[in-house]
Amino acid sequence: MTKKVLVLPGDGIGQEIVGEAVKLIKLLQSDYGLDVEMEEALVGGTAYDATGKPLPDETLKLAKESDAVLLGAVGGYKWEELDISVRPEKGLLGLRAGMDLFANLRPAILYPQLADASTLKPEVVSGLDIMIVRELTGGIYFGQPRGIHELENGEKQGINTLVYKESEITRIAKVAFEIARKRDSRVCSVDKANVLECTELWRNIVIDFHKDYSDIELSHMYVDNAAMQLVRAPKQFDVMVTTNMFGDILSDAAAMLTGSIGMLPSASLNDSGQGMYEPIHGSAPDIAGQNIANPLATILSVAMMLRYTLDEAEMADKIEKAVSDVLDDGLRTADIYSDGMTKVSTNTMGAAVLSKLQK
Ligand code: IPM
Ligand code: MG
Repeated sequence: MTKKVLVLPGDGIGQEIVGEAVKLIKLLQSDYGLDVEMEEALVGGTAYDATGKPLPDETLKLAKESDAVLLGAVGGYKWEELDISVRPEKGLLGLRAGMDLFANLRPAILYPQLADASTLKPEVVSGLDIMIVRELTGGIYFGQPRGIHELENGEKQGINTLVYKESEITRIAKVAFEIARKRDSRVCSVDKANVLECTELWRNIVIDFHKDYSDIELSHMYVDNAAMQLVRAPKQFDVMVTTNMFGDILSDAAAMLTGSIGMLPSASLNDSGQGMYEPIHGSAPDIAGQNIANPLATILSVAMMLRYTLDEAEMADKIEKAVSDVLDDGLRTADIYSDGMTKVSTNTMGAAVLSKLQK
């Protein structure tokens, strides 16, 4: 049956990078028989400008009806002064919550061709292959009560609440253990169990649930130490599983180990196999519209979509190989450029990947 892909370019460089990914999907339709239909909708600041909402009802409806969502990025200077309830980021959070996309997979893989682009020594990062599994619909991002209130003495107070229930912890632990089984069978659960009761529960539940996964080696780390270990000796990790906020922070750090945040895709999945796929970088308003952004993270997000939602692992392999091949050819967008390489635009990079795949 024809699968539905909802395309949400969003803001900033989103338009440009998603443009390249859409060309790729069209090529897969024409040359490889990929059976999908695409529709496009608004999200983020662009949606706010057009409709007054960062996540129009129509967009959420289309997203829920689709098998996969391909998202560019949201946010930009233009919308920073808006009330937090209608900022572009709310569009993204609303999609995550509305589709119940609780499992966020953020691979941090170092392409050997880019070892020099990392700020860490090549021997520290070469061969790096970490999968961060971030809980995405709970924790402090969504906990109640929240807000900014005025106290009786007139002073303001801000509140956010870190909250997890057992079922939310077991379902994300399950995803991490299952993924580890297809990799190096090691999971490190990251918490702050020495200080925060909520993550003490997290640790205990993960330990309990692990009894069903005795083939997986489980370890635990406090988040401060995990941040340090990521920059000290990142290759010790296989799969890391953690809360929404810790995962947000650690995945940015892990991304930079690989040289450029412009290379990393992500998948956000729910229990019914629907997924949202997006580069982990933001909308980069400073370079938007200049045709210099790196489209590879979005192109690799299409590969994750093929693997996790569309059941086309072979096509996913081909895309990943094509990306590696263009890097071998020396093509680099500005963010991953180094001496002796060929600096190319967004369009040229996208076209180069396509030319490797054309039949
Ligand atoms: C991410 C981003 C988002 C997050 C923002 C844009 C809401 O930083 O996907 O990592 O904090 O989850
Ligand atoms: Mg983030």
